[in-house]
Amino acid sequence: MKAQVFYEPERMKLEQKAVPEPGENEVLIKVKSVGICGSDVAYYFGASSLETKDGKGPLVLGHEFTGEVAAVGKNASGKFAEGDRVVANPVQSPLDSPWTQRGLSNVADGKRVLGVSEDGGFAEYCVSDYRWTLKLADNVTFDQGALTEPLACGLYAVNNCNLEAGQTVIVFGPGPIALMMVQVLKSRGAKNVVLVGTRDYRLKKGAELGATHIVNVSDKKSPHYAADLGDRIREINGGELADRAITATSSLSAIQQALKVTGPHSTLVIFGLPGDKDILQVPILDTILMDKTIRFSWLAPNTWEEAVQLISDGIVDMDAIISHKFDLDSLAEGITKVRNREDSCTKGLIKVS
Ligand SMILES: NC(=O)c1ccc[n+]([C@@H]2O[C@H](COP(=O)([O-])OP(=O)(O)OC[C@H]3O[C@@H](n4cnc5c(N)ncnc54)[C@H](OP(=O)(O)O)[C@@H]3O)[C@@H](O)[C@H]2O)c1
Ligand SMILES: [Zn+2]
Repeated sequence: MKAQVFYEPERMKLEQKAVPEPGENEVLIKVKSVGICGSDVAYYFGASSLETKDGKGPLVLGHEFTGEVAAVGKNASGKFAEGDRVVANPVQSPLDSPWTQRGLSNVADGKRVLGVSEDGGFAEYCVSDYRWTLKLADNVTFDQGALTEPLACGLYAVNNCNLEAGQTVIVFGPGPIALMMVQVLKSRGAKNVVLVGTRDYRLKKGAELGATHIVNVSDKKSPHYAADLGDRIREINGGELADRAITATSSLSAIQQALKVTGPHSTLVIFGLPGDKDILQVPILDTILMDKTIRFSWLAPNTWEEAVQLISDGIVDMDAIISHKFDLDSLAEGITKVRNREDSCTKGLIKVS
């Protein structure tokens, strides 16, 4: 099979590799579509280490993928058959972990993560544990389904913000996941969904997808620019600061700003991953006196089934978020385009077959 093998920063080679044999608990997937995630960009350019034993390649990246079952391991045969259209949950936690058994597979030790610690989807075939593999609904395309993983993570963050209907919520960072969150928040009855970012082309996409207000906090030439986000939120929310906020950007200053523009009894969910040296300073007394909740959100325990359903029900429009498609041979080009935000790139997708 053809596979893109990542060796070290900016060195990835399209190679011929043996098709993997599925183990007894695995299915072999003929890969169709794979999303390019910000973490693929970070691995490719050396900003993050892999989760292999030594933190290095060679490894096939790609953890957001769909495909067709091509072979079924012994224990998977009752549940999957050749030709099934599937999506892999790449975070394959040990099922006997007490955390997994409590429904918190996101914090279990010993996770295998396809495309991060094991070979992933940027190849013609990939194996996945059948217990972490889901069927796609018939009306969901392989391209749409490839974005289930980021949606499942975003959905967990939305759940963690405990939105009540009629509230005003801010989403910081109009990347692909925020664009999904906006749609879910709107469907759950948020009155105002304010999307905050740095580039108008992404903010406008958010407005098309249901954000009621868009605010550019960086580009002074933008018609959506606001010098004081707190003032802008008060204008939108009848004089009050926001009830809920989710940060879906790696920017530490966005998190700090989110603390300032959320009001009494609000909840702030910190989702975007900052640098490993970043420290958040919280004015403790003020935050207590406002009776605020600050919640961190990691991965997607128990949100996969609902994520698959939300795409099938048309609640989350993925086609509008996928801005660029590439073939497997052009993976490095795709990763570079996503990083550089070239020609209004929001989400890149690799069409493998
Ligand atoms: N916690 C979890 O479980 C989990 C799971 C998956 C991903 N993540 C994280 O979630 C985040 C979002 O990922 P993504 O791929 O959807 O998005 P993304 O492509 O990283 O986009 C983030 C957006 O935030 C914008 N931004 C930068 N500074 C900002 C600021 N001060 N205020 C508002 N927006 C700002 C960026 O603008 P520029 O274009 O100007 O940079 C960009 O448009 C990432 O940090 C990712 O690592 C977390
Ligand atoms: Zn990802």
